[in-house]
Amino acid sequence: MSTSRSFRTGTSRAVLALMVVASAGCQMFGGSCLADAPTSCPPNPPTYAQVQPILGHACVLCHAPDAQLSTLPLDTYEAVFARRDAAEKLVSTCAMPRDGVLLSDEERRTLLNWFVCDAPR
Ligand code: HEC
Repeated sequence: MSTSRSFRTGTSRAVLALMVVASAGCQMFGGSCLADAPTSCPPNPPTYAQVQPILGHACVLCHAPDAQLSTLPLDTYEAVFARRDAAEKLVSTCAMPRDGVLLSDEERRTLLNWFVCDAPR
């Protein structure tokens, strides 16, 4: 009896841990990722200078010539600009960043506003 009880506890802990990992990207921001993604470019859009530190801590650790995704670098303006459409989609759906790397609400908004304005310099 006690064996099966502790097995069940262990299983539900594992399931809970998986759910936390899988949903952390979206649910931390209060529901649907798409709902708070901007649909049009706001006045005074952010510049690359404002976005670069965000990319630096949330993306470049995986996306750089000397990192895991050396063929998908996001460490220069040109590299990000070339992938801006895919990046916007992935950030707006909370598919990126991933593996426990998170953006604050403010960072996510800045990044999405920049993408929706077509990634100005
Ligand atoms: C922990 C590592 C990690 C972090 C952090 C990360 N990525 Fe990724 N990214 C990946 C992996 C792995 C892939 C390729 C496999 C996949 O698509 O699932 C990928 C793929 C991509 C792609 C290419 C998708 C395509 O189909 O062309 C883009 C664009 C991207 N990431 C953008 C970003 C942006 C923007 C950030 C930061 C906000 C970011 N990533 C943060 C690991 C990461």
